[in-house]
Amino acid sequence: MTRSKRLTIPELVAKKGKEKITALTAYDVQFARLLDETGIDLILVGDSAAMIMMGYEDTLPITMEEMLVFTKSVVKGTKRALVVGDMPFLSYQVSDENAVFNAGRFLKEAGAQAVKIEGGQEMASRVRAVVKAGIPVLGHIGLTPQSANLLGGYKVQGKDVASARKLLADAQALVEAGIFALVLECVPQELAALITQKISVPTIGIGAGKHVDGQILVLHDLLGLFEGFRPKFVKAYADLASVCRTALNTYIKEVKTGQFPGEEHSFKLSPEVWAELSKAE
Ligand code: KIV
Repeated sequence: MTRSKRLTIPELVAKKGKEKITALTAYDVQFARLLDETGIDLILVGDSAAMIMMGYEDTLPITMEEMLVFTKSVVKGTKRALVVGDMPFLSYQVSDENAVFNAGRFLKEAGAQAVKIEGGQEMASRVRAVVKAGIPVLGHIGLTPQSANLLGGYKVQGKDVASARKLLADAQALVEAGIFALVLECVPQELAALITQKISVPTIGIGAGKHVDGQILVLHDLLGLFEGFRPKFVKAYADLASVCRTALNTYIKEVKTGQFPGEEHSFKLSPEVWAELSKAE
C-alpha cells in the first residue's frame, strides 16, 4: 500500500518565513481536482459554502451534515493538498466536548486532515480540547463571519489601538492553545504584519495585505463565479460567470434551431438493422 503524499501539518508550518502558503476554498470534487493539480498547499472547505453553494445570505444556517458532504467531496478530489473542514456555527461554541466530537467527525467521516475554528481568546479552551484529541486546528480571527451580528456587520477589525491589541492577544492565546496556523480576515495590513512577526505559526491572510505568511480567497470570488457581492480584498482572475452564460445561451439557441445534437453526437443503427426496421409493417 502506498501512503498518501499529502502535505503534512509540520511541512506547512515549516513554510513560515521561507515560502508563501497558497490556499483557496473548494466545496466539490471537480474544483478540488483542479486545485490539487496546481500544487496548492491548503484547501479549506469553508462554511462560505452556505452562501456559495446553498444560496443563504450568511454562513450561519449551514449544518454539520451539509459541511461533511462538501468535505467528503473535496477529499475525494485531492491527493496532495491539506484539506481543512470549517466547523459550522454551533458545532463548537456550546462546549469543549461538543467541539471535539464535531471536529472528529471531519476527520473520521469526511477524511479531512484538520478543522478551522473561528474566534480568539474565548475559543482557546475549545482549540486546546480539539488539539488534545489529536485534531489539528486552523485558527481564524479578525472578521469572523459567524459573529457578524456581534461585530455589527462585515467590517475591517482591529482599526483602533484597543481592538488591535485584542487581536494580538487573541493570536497569542490561540498559538498557546495549539493552532498550527491562523487565518487573519479583514485586518489592516500593518497589524497583520505585526501579528505575523509575533507568532510562531504561519498567518494566512484574506483582506490582510501581503505581509503575512500566505493568502486564501474564496474560489468562486477568484473565478468570477459568485456575483452576490465583491469585497475590496477580492481579485477576480477570471469572469467564469460570463463564460458560463455564453455557453448556456449557445446551447439553448442550438437546441431550438436543431444545430445540436450533430451527427458526431448521435448513435447509428447498422444498415442491416435499419433496412429490416424500415420495411413496411
Ligand atoms: O468560510 C470561508 O470560506 C472562510 C474563508 C474566507 C477564510 O472562512
